[in-house]
Amino acid sequence: MSSPTLDAPRSSRQLVRNNFEKNAWMFMRLSGIVLVVLVLGHLFIMNILDGGVHRINFAFVAGRWASPFWQLWDLVMLWLAMLHGANGLRTIINDYASKEGTRLTLKGLLYSATFLTIVLGTLVIFTFDPTIS
Ligand code: HEM
Repeated sequence: MSSPTLDAPRSSRQLVRNNFEKNAWMFMRLSGIVLVVLVLGHLFIMNILDGGVHRINFAFVAGRWASPFWQLWDLVMLWLAMLHGANGLRTIINDYASKEGTRLTLKGLLYSATFLTIVLGTLVIFTFDPTIS
């Protein structure tokens, strides 16, 4: 009986021999575990507790972000979700984009969008002005 095998990746890219892919694999599992708590907690608080989405307005956000605890919660959720999602898409691009140019373009777009979202989101969390009218 032959042992089960996996198809080789469709791209012809040479694999770099370091620990990056192993660390990325670990990161997906660890960030996934933390994200379950952060995302389900977020969903519960924002959508179910005390009237859910109907009570969300500027004052509600201002009240939440007055607390360093919720700032940190949202910051960690933002960073982990973005890095987890981006690394997952990086794997998909590596698996499916067989042309070097296509791969570079898609990863360029992915990394730019990820960087921009993380920087803008982080800025919003820390520079949010509750007194603006
Ligand atoms: C809620 C908790 C989450 C858990 C437990 C989780 C878990 C995982 C795990 C273990 C993998 C690796 C799968 C593999 O290597 O075959 C993965 C892949 C992935 N995750 Fe998540 N994830 C979560 C949230 C998210 C979020 C919020 C996003 C988007 C921002 C996301 C996007 C992705 C993508 C794009 C992949 C790659 C899929 C693939 O390789 O086919 N995940 N996730």
